[in-house]
Amino acid sequence: MKSVIKGFILAVAKRNRLIRSTAQFITESTMRDYYPYLKERFIKNGEGHHCDADQRRKLVEQFERIDREIPIGSSPTDGLFLAEMLLNLEPDGDLLECGCFAGGSSAKLSLVARLLGRRLLIFDSFQGLPEVEEQYLRDKHCRRGEDWVTNWDSGRFDAGKEVVRRNIETHGDISVCTLVEGWFNETLTPENLPEKIAFAFTDVDLSNSARDCFVAIWPRLAEQGLFVTHDTAYIKVLQEFYNSRLWQEDFQSVPPILFGAGFGLCNASPHVGYMVKGQNLTPEYLKNLTIDK
Ligand SMILES: C[S@@+](CC[C@H](N)C(=O)[O-])C[C@H]1O[C@@H](n2cnc3c(N)ncnc32)[C@H](O)[C@@H]1O
Repeated sequence: MKSVIKGFILAVAKRNRLIRSTAQFITESTMRDYYPYLKERFIKNGEGHHCDADQRRKLVEQFERIDREIPIGSSPTDGLFLAEMLLNLEPDGDLLECGCFAGGSSAKLSLVARLLGRRLLIFDSFQGLPEVEEQYLRDKHCRRGEDWVTNWDSGRFDAGKEVVRRNIETHGDISVCTLVEGWFNETLTPENLPEKIAFAFTDVDLSNSARDCFVAIWPRLAEQGLFVTHDTAYIKVLQEFYNSRLWQEDFQSVPPILFGAGFGLCNASPHVGYMVKGQNLTPEYLKNLTIDK
């Protein structure tokens, strides 16, 4: 009897593995197919746009070089989504990045910042993830079959400030960037934050880091400004963004839509989600932020 049960369990486990690897294969193939499609759309969106098709083609070439040359935690489609949002951003103000690893995403953002004549402030410890309490070391991924995500040891993603600077110098535009070093709960302060933030991209993994960024940035975000997260697939992070006390007592407003909540913007960008600030946002403005017009 025991061996029958054991055989059954083994058969299910094996099948599960097969199902999982098939799902992974399909996801990876979709990623490969979707990037060329989005890239074509992104360039085509240059017709009649202040950033024309030639400028966009050049941007894509620069982004692809960054993807090849710099270790990077965000995907090629993530880069295109961010660029399209930025190119259609209405409010004045600076751009922010929290969580830069080796500077790959920063280099991409800096190229768009240069095109737009905006400043980019980059916040990071430049020594990787912090040491945190046990409860923050585990999260659940909305789309993956695995149990807890737990690979967030302190020091992970430590590339060093000088490497980040060099990577941006070589592949982006360091002249528009300011690097702010330290833990978010110490650096995202009124002294370091600009008066007006038009756009923030946070890619920080841990739910407490995500909360520190969100709490500091959201009140300073301009009307029609964007808060983009690269951590939308993590359930604890989502819970931080929708903490009711935060909205009722601190922000005294209602939370907006988080586009991509839990599932991202496509299979190739499963971690990207964004909120747009404001009460009277037109569907035209919101639609214009996307690549598929
Ligand atoms: C996943 S990596 C960023 C990847 C990068 N955006 C890219 O596309 O390559 C996460 C980054 O967040 C930073 N980070 C996380 N929590 C932090 C905290 N509390 N204070 C400062 N930096 C933090 C880490 O140092 C790391 O560089």
